Amino acid sequence: MPQIPEKIHELTVGQVSARSGAAVSALHFYEAKGLISSRRTSGNQRRYSRDTLRRVAFIRAAQRVGIPLATIRDALAELPEGRTPTREDWAGLSQTWRSELDERIKQLGRLRDHLTDCIGCGCLSLETCVLSNPDDVFGDRLVGSRLLNERRAAR
Ligand code: FES
Repeated sequence: MPQIPEKIHELTVGQVSARSGAAVSALHFYEAKGLISSRRTSGNQRRYSRDTLRRVAFIRAAQRVGIPLATIRDALAELPEGRTPTREDWAGLSQTWRSELDERIKQLGRLRDHLTDCIGCGCLSLETCVLSNPDDVFGDRLVGSRLLNERRAAR
């Protein structure tokens, strides 16, 4: 991993990419989504403050465990004055996200256990297929065409 001298306070997108392991396109995406920010030089090139590396590490760690970008952005926005997350911030947020992760793990376990029924089937039935309706969210109140009508009405 390339080292960046301490005296350098602003980084190019290439330096952030090389140091963080995130693709340049991912960094542009994070910026477009408001997760990181940069200033523009007179030549319209992006420059990131050094603490962007920690923000990117935070984002990537959260993404690795399946936290949606919108949730990550909300968490970063709650930090005082948009500061870089500290070790304590990460500890607190990862604790907050634990129940969400436990729920996802449960859901994935259910998908894994029922996947063998789907292999080679292809029906994607809303009534019986765990892939098309993983939480059976409509099972209690709607089936088949009634669901379709509800979706049409919502448009
Ligand atoms: S595809 Fe038929 S049960 Fe899942």
